[in-house]
Amino acid sequence: MTQPNDRFLRACRQQKVDTTPVWFMRQAGRYLTEYRAVREKAGGFLALCKTPELACEVTLQPVDILGVDAAILFSDILIPLEAMGIPISFGEGEGPKLETVRNGSDLDKLHVPDPVSQTGFVMEAIRIIRRELHDRVPLVGFAGAPFTLASYAVEGGTSRTFGEILSWMYREPESFQRLLGLMADTVILYLKAQVEAGAQAIQLFDTWAGVLSRHHYREFVLPVTSRVFSALKGLGVPMILYVNGSAQFLEEMALSGADVISVDWRVGLDEARERTHGACALQGNLDPVALYASKEVLREQARRVIALAPQAGHIFNLGHGMLPDTPRENVIALVEMVHELGKKEL
Ligand code: CP3
Repeated sequence: MTQPNDRFLRACRQQKVDTTPVWFMRQAGRYLTEYRAVREKAGGFLALCKTPELACEVTLQPVDILGVDAAILFSDILIPLEAMGIPISFGEGEGPKLETVRNGSDLDKLHVPDPVSQTGFVMEAIRIIRRELHDRVPLVGFAGAPFTLASYAVEGGTSRTFGEILSWMYREPESFQRLLGLMADTVILYLKAQVEAGAQAIQLFDTWAGVLSRHHYREFVLPVTSRVFSALKGLGVPMILYVNGSAQFLEEMALSGADVISVDWRVGLDEARERTHGACALQGNLDPVALYASKEVLREQARRVIALAPQAGHIFNLGHGMLPDTPRENVIALVEMVHELGKKEL
C-alpha cells in the first residue's frame, strides 16, 4: 500500500518533509482540456460547482495529471454570496456579475446562510472527493475572506479601482464594519461545515485586500480575519491566508492566527520570513507568468523561490492563480522540478 502523502500538511505545521510540497491556486481550470470537457457536460461553470460528482472529477484532474501534493475543492468563493441573497451569473469568457449591495440599508436584505441546507452541494462534493482520493493527498477547502467577498458584493464584479467599496469605507465606517462582520459570520459557518465534511486544511482567499493601505488593513480587515481564524482554530486543521499584493502588511497577516501565509511574487520568501519571524509557514510565490517561459527559465525561477524559502515550512505555489492558457506541459514539468530541487537531507 502506498503511504498517504502528508508533505503538504507537515509543511503547513513547519515539520520536516522529504521534499517541498507543491500545489497551485486554480490548478483545475481552463488550461486543462479535460476540465473544459467536464464543464461542457455540466452546462456551465456554476452548474459544475453545483454538481458534486462533476466537481469531484475536476478536483481530481490536477492530482492525476500534475502529481501535486494537495487537492483543492473545486468551487468558487462567490458561492456563499449567492446563498446570502445576492444573485450571481458568469457570462462565457467574462468575469462574474453580481447584484450590488451599496449601503447599510442594503445589508438588511442579506442573511447569514446555513451552509448545510443552502450550500449542501459543496459539502457533498467534499465527501465524494475524500472517498475518491483514498488519502493519496490531502484536500484543501476554502472561502473568500470578508473583504474580498464584500468587494464582489459592492462592486458587482471584479473591479479595477475598487472605488465603490473604498468609498463606502470612508463614508460610513460603521456600516462598512457591519458588512465585513456579516461576511465573517458567513465564512465561519461555511468553513466549519467544510471541515466537518472532510476538508483537511482551509485557505482564506483575500485576493483584493492588497488595495488597502497598511493602516486600513489593520483597522478594518485584520480584526475580522482574526475573528474567522480564532473561531476555526479548534477544528485542528491548518489555516492558510492568501492576499495578493500584501507587501505592505505581511507583519499584520502573521498576527491573524493563520498557520500559513501565502504571498504573491513581489516579495522574496526570505524577506517574508524575516518580517514574520518564523511565526507562520510560507506558501508561494512563483509569478504565474513564469509558466509561459522556457523550461530553463522556469527551472531557474523555481530554484530561486526554493533557495529563498525556509527549509521547513514552505509550500510551493504560485503568487496568484494559474492563467487560463498556461502551457500544461510546463505545469507538469514544474511539479517535477520542485520535487527535485526541494529535496531535503533527512
Ligand atoms: O484553485 C482551484 O483549482 C479551485 C477552484 C477555484 C476557482 N475559483 C475556480 C474557478 C478557486 C479556489 C477559486 C477562487 C476564486 N474565485 C478567487 C480567489 C482566487 C483568485 O484567483 O484570486 C476569486 C477572486 C474568484 C472569483 C472568480 N471566479 C473570478 C474573478 C472568476 C472569473 C475569472 C476567470 O478566470 O474566468 C471566476 C471563475 C472561475 N473560478 C473559474 C474557475 C476554474 C473559470 C470559470 C470557467 O470559465 O470555467
